[in-house]
Amino acid sequence: MDSIKITYKVDGVETTVEGDKNKTLLDTAIENDIDAPYSCKGGACATCIGRLKIGSVELEQNYILTDGEIEEGLIITCQSYPTSNELYLDVDDN
Ligand code: FES
Repeated sequence: MDSIKITYKVDGVETTVEGDKNKTLLDTAIENDIDAPYSCKGGACATCIGRLKIGSVELEQNYILTDGEIEEGLIITCQSYPTSNELYLDVDDN
């Protein structure tokens, strides 16, 4: 089972949905009508940055974030695939 639980915080509103380890955090947000910001979907514009407060992800492409920023929990949602079963992403904190 690749099913997981993802909580998004966007504009102060928390929404928890079923996720999928084969989908990016951004695609799961869009599918669930969560208003997460994005633009390029290619790992280049930084519009989709958020802070991962619980859980872990694997970044597929990253042209923006430094190693230090990633250590602080910053991720770009369009390139982030979940690697844990529970995640909390704060899109407001970036
Ligand atoms: S939407 Fe451009 S980096 Fe994610």
